[in-house]
Amino acid sequence: MVDPAAPLTPDDPAPDVAMPDGVVLRRASAADHDELARLSDDTWGPDNSPGPKLVDRDTDFFDRVGPEGHLVALLDGRMVGYVRMGHPTPLPASRHVVEVQGLGVHADAAGRGIGAALVEAAVADARRRGAHKVSLRVMGTNPRAIALYERLGFTVQGHLREEFVVEGALVDDLMMCRFL
Ligand SMILES: CC(C)(COP(=O)(O)OP(=O)(O)OC[C@H]1O[C@@H](n2cnc3c(N)ncnc32)[C@H](O)[C@@H]1OP(=O)(O)O)[C@@H](O)C(=O)NCCC(=O)NCCS
Repeated sequence: MVDPAAPLTPDDPAPDVAMPDGVVLRRASAADHDELARLSDDTWGPDNSPGPKLVDRDTDFFDRVGPEGHLVALLDGRMVGYVRMGHPTPLPASRHVVEVQGLGVHADAAGRGIGAALVEAAVADARRRGAHKVSLRVMGTNPRAIALYERLGFTVQGHLREEFVVEGALVDDLMMCRFL
């Protein structure tokens, strides 16, 4: 019997994982909307996202995943990183899988281990909820992120070839996962 992951609530604590020096992890709240939207756009690039920036879309940052599905990293009080956790489909049949649907660390704070700590926090959160598996998708043009995920124990479970056209070029998408 495989149970679905417990739903997230705004009162869920942030996972207790080691963070780099000076970095504090907490769960996002509705009040973080604008800062998160800015951070998401600041970390956006055609190598890491096939879609447009948020600022160029008429959508709310929390439209698909509510604040409780986001963990944020603060460096000296400033929001410099986030991870978004959803499910691969809206079906009850995929509730045992937590999908990392967004990860970003501001360039000013890159290379300090914050990205790795955020992914580990998402994994810890998924484990606490009783999830069976953590999955994610990453573009083939993003070797830095692929290396990060591989270092953290994710393996490729699917390779979508020529899945996107970005700036006129065909781009692969990798599906990666880690079993809990
Ligand atoms: C991918 C990303 C989240 C990594 O965040 P980060 O906080 O820099 O990650 P970490 O510091 O934990 O690890 C980064 C790795 O890249 C290496 N690195 C550091 N600076 C680098 C640089 N300028 N260029 C290339 N690699 C670099 C680090 O050495 C580290 O590898 P190592 O631990 O094996 O030495 C961040 O670069 C980012 O937000 N990118 C844009 C958005 C994105 O690609 N998101 C993922 C979508 S699937």
